[in-house]
Amino acid sequence: MSDVAVDPIDNPYERYAFLRREQPVVQEAADGPWMVARHADVMTILRDQKTFSSDVALRSDEEKKIRPSMLFSDPPVHNRLRKLVSYAFKPGFVENQRALITDRCESLVQALAAQDEVDLVQALAAPLPVTVIAAMLGVEEGDTLQFKAWSDKIFSNIADLLFAQAGEDVQRAAAEMDSYFLERIAMLRRQPANNLLGRLVETQTDEGKLTDQELLSFCSLLLIAGNETTTGLITASVRIFDEMPQTFKQVQEQPALIPSFIEEALRYYSPFSATIRRTTCDTVLAGQAIKRGALVIPLIASANRDERVFDRPDEFVIDRSPNPHVAFGFGIHNCLGAHLARLEGQIAIASLTRHMHGIRLADGEVSVAGQLGGPSSLRVKIIKA
Ligand code: HEM
Repeated sequence: MSDVAVDPIDNPYERYAFLRREQPVVQEAADGPWMVARHADVMTILRDQKTFSSDVALRSDEEKKIRPSMLFSDPPVHNRLRKLVSYAFKPGFVENQRALITDRCESLVQALAAQDEVDLVQALAAPLPVTVIAAMLGVEEGDTLQFKAWSDKIFSNIADLLFAQAGEDVQRAAAEMDSYFLERIAMLRRQPANNLLGRLVETQTDEGKLTDQELLSFCSLLLIAGNETTTGLITASVRIFDEMPQTFKQVQEQPALIPSFIEEALRYYSPFSATIRRTTCDTVLAGQAIKRGALVIPLIASANRDERVFDRPDEFVIDRSPNPHVAFGFGIHNCLGAHLARLEGQIAIASLTRHMHGIRLADGEVSVAGQLGGPSSLRVKIIKA
């Protein structure tokens, strides 16, 4: 069977379907990473952190100790880091952000709705998540466009940061972000504040207070993990409105559909399309032998279209239930910001459908979403009446 007709750049979902059918666990280049396409196998990996480690980065043990990353560490380091911040992402705490998110969203959407054609990323999908996380960290007076520029640069070069020498501009962005946060941390050590970063600065652990490097690791992870992905969720939702304009009307007429619309958007165009693990021992996955030390890529966006799990997987079913997507991952690393991302997505959709009659992609925009995170721009036309 060949996939010659498929252009993976235009439509990654065609490629995922081919992989699920023909090569569910495949190494596309000798010594390259293993791609894993089916839902059950993706779940096996995400569930089993002993065999599939998140400690993938090619950094020395010393570097990892000095600047540990929650996302790229295993227990017990992972548990310790996650426990320190998890309170701020629990449903009750996140609910306290509702007024802030709604205010910010309403003013962005009102400005957007007054135009005929606009870049959705600039106008809403990027500034909304960046302002929310900046407010939670207590750095809202900082330049949110600057945060966005740093996080874009680092996120889009994450593979280089993990496995190779990052380019000069990426290193510069990381250094600038560090020095911005170092200044804030120094200020908070002098003058405590009751925000997420302020509380982290004050936190006592068994090993004493957190070091600057540990604090920087939290700041950059939260800023980077929370931004691109939420931008991706908002742009994915608007692509869906464009492809299936009836969904806009359905949500407008029945706002109670918004939570299931968002879950289905997360499944249909998963913004965090893939993650990464490294095997800690020789293992076998779906009959395929994999050597110790190999990189493995669970294709989340493919798992979320698996016909073995989802009825009509390539259809957008606005009230799909149950919807066992893995858009937020699964297991110990499941997305810490999932409640926050859902709330931001729901508020953004409610606001868009309240302030306009429809929204379409501008001429020339490509409909299918496939890249990791969100696009850097997406021009849309506002339908007024
Ligand atoms: C639609 C938006 C989002 C999506 C689709 C998403 C997706 C994911 C996924 C798939 C993982 C697991 C990665 C893995 O197992 O390797 C993850 C982890 C994580 N996410 Fe999100 N995320 C989103 C928004 C956010 C937000 C808003 C924040 C915080 C502000 C956030 C913070 C994190 C953190 C800190 C982790 C690491 C958790 C750990 O290692 O224990 N995410 N996210």
